[in-house]
Amino acid sequence: MNQIQHVAIIMDGNGRWGLKHKKSRNLGHKAGLITVEKILKETIKNKIKFLTLFAFSTENWKRPQKEITYLFSLLEEFLLKKIEDLNKNQIKLRIIGNKKKIGPKLKKILQNSEKITKNNRRLQINLALNYGSKDELLNTFTLIKKKKIKITLENIKKNLYTHNIPDPDILIRTGNTKRLSNFMLWQLAYSELYFEKKLWPDFTVKDYNRIIKSFKKIKRNFGNI
Ligand code: FPP
Repeated sequence: MNQIQHVAIIMDGNGRWGLKHKKSRNLGHKAGLITVEKILKETIKNKIKFLTLFAFSTENWKRPQKEITYLFSLLEEFLLKKIEDLNKNQIKLRIIGNKKKIGPKLKKILQNSEKITKNNRRLQINLALNYGSKDELLNTFTLIKKKKIKITLENIKKNLYTHNIPDPDILIRTGNTKRLSNFMLWQLAYSELYFEKKLWPDFTVKDYNRIIKSFKKIKRNFGNI
């Protein structure tokens, strides 16, 4: 049976859910956060060590300012309210993505959250924030050039935002769309991809466990036979 070290999730469908149920995209994001908390608990229960959540992409800046502001305030509120709880539960928080465009207040909260939780070992949450794979690769090659080191697979890996994080075993994308949207293009090379019809706020622990169960049975060849 396959062991699972790392699950990555594209939490798609909040906006559509919000419009359908509450006539507001933002309230869909709020509902999405409830799913995040449920999935987080279930990830710990399943003894999975890494959970990556795509919270905001380098392309999401194209959205209306009102939605962007709401998303960041939701994250800010979540961290201020929950970081102690996460810490008590031995959860480590790491931000992956380009921090340059993040406002000073949130940046400070993020840095503080990473610092407080840095020694925790039960679960690592990688929050992909202002994350885009192409931006990550550009940053990686810029670093390699600056450090005057060789372009090798190992050096690329070591200079990605995800250094020290194993590649995802599983990618889940909710929201009935089959694309990667500039997410972990390098790291997903051998991941199993699960595209779910349900919108993220409707995604349940039962759905999550069905995917985990199905993954465990897959024969992974990594190019071998
Ligand atoms: C994609 O749905 C979702 C996002 C861009 C944001 C995800 C954010 C959350 C789940 C809440 C905050 C998270 C944390 C971890 C604090 P969409 O808006 O693209 O949905 P649509 O395809 O229906 O428009």
